[in-house]
Amino acid sequence: MSRSPLRAGARVVGAVVALVVVACLVIYAGSPVILGRRYALPSHAAFALNGAPDSASIERGRHLVGPIAKCTACHGGDLSGQAFINDPAFGRFVAPNLTRGVGGVGATLTDAAWELAIRHGIDTTGRGLLFMPSSDFNRMSDEDVVEIIAYLKQIPPVDHTLDPTRVGPVARALLVAGKLPIIAAARIDESQPHVPAPPVGPTPEYGAYIARIGGCEGCHRANFSGGHVAGTPPSFKAAANLTPTGIGTWTKDDFVRALRQGVTPGGVPLDSLMPVRMTKDMTDTEIDALWAYIRTMPPAPMGR
Ligand code: HEC
Ligand code: HEC
Repeated sequence: MSRSPLRAGARVVGAVVALVVVACLVIYAGSPVILGRRYALPSHAAFALNGAPDSASIERGRHLVGPIAKCTACHGGDLSGQAFINDPAFGRFVAPNLTRGVGGVGATLTDAAWELAIRHGIDTTGRGLLFMPSSDFNRMSDEDVVEIIAYLKQIPPVDHTLDPTRVGPVARALLVAGKLPIIAAARIDESQPHVPAPPVGPTPEYGAYIARIGGCEGCHRANFSGGHVAGTPPSFKAAANLTPTGIGTWTKDDFVRALRQGVTPGGVPLDSLMPVRMTKDMTDTEIDALWAYIRTMPPAPMGR
């Protein structure tokens, strides 16, 4: 007698089970290696603020932390931290409490440690921070980093102790497959020196700077062709194509309305992944500069 279909079926099931077991082993052996990897500290690791900051630089720091660099989007409006992604399969990702309150990192971080987290995406042991968009912040000028730190060191302390981050099975599988680019330290080119920001003005040069440190590029891509936002679940809305192929018929007023009121020229509200609650508070000069820069982009099909 040859094999019965039942026995053959049992073999297939057995093979599938074996494959799943192997996949789990790979994922649970491989992901801690990726998560635990240590990155070299940059040579200027002794970064420190000079003297007491004046009120103008603290005010500029507040503007950078909110509307421009959007630290508040993840660390919370009062910067006391939050689980900004909480999904049983994907994981629970916590942006820590940055204040000096109980459960906050503010009391213990040195100026150098702040700079490592912001521009290099690592803690003082060289561990790559998850989700910190430091590949965008890496091009930030010394002045802007100093103002951010000066501001953060004087925000009111908030007592808020959070449960730790838990990386779920789906995120682990994506990490092992190289499909979840959430460790910025792995992508930063540390051979690039930090350079001053271009002068503030409605110029494409300043627009390019804001687009980079403001995360527009991180979501809409360097050529602004849009597409799936790296690190978000597949179900999330794709970032819009901001090249002439996408918004070629828009006027500057249409662009301003999109960033300030979160609607398209046709009156359609933008998806909440587009951070209008932050871009609405950008200055006229910043929005003009972004517009000037985006207008220099050649046409490109969505996501390419
Ligand atoms: C996309 C979400 C996101 C944004 C935006 C963001 N962070 Fe974070 N940040 C995180 C997460 C998540 C962690 C914890 C990562 C970890 O421990 O692996 C973190 C960690 C930190 C730490 C802790 C470093 C340490 O050594 O413990 C500091 C400081 C920090 N962020 C500052 C900032 C500042 C300042 C900004 C804005 C310039 C900012 N973050 C923007 C998500 C974000
Ligand atoms: C966290 C990701 C993210 C960031 C950061 C981001 N965007 Fe967006 N943006 C989106 C998504 C997603 C959409 C599509 C919304 C929709 O289709 O409803 C969008 C839509 C837009 C639109 C509307 C275009 C259209 O065709 O409707 C404009 C304009 C825009 N973004 C400009 C910017 C600028 C300028 C910045 C930086 C200051 C920026 N975005 C930062 C995700 C982002």
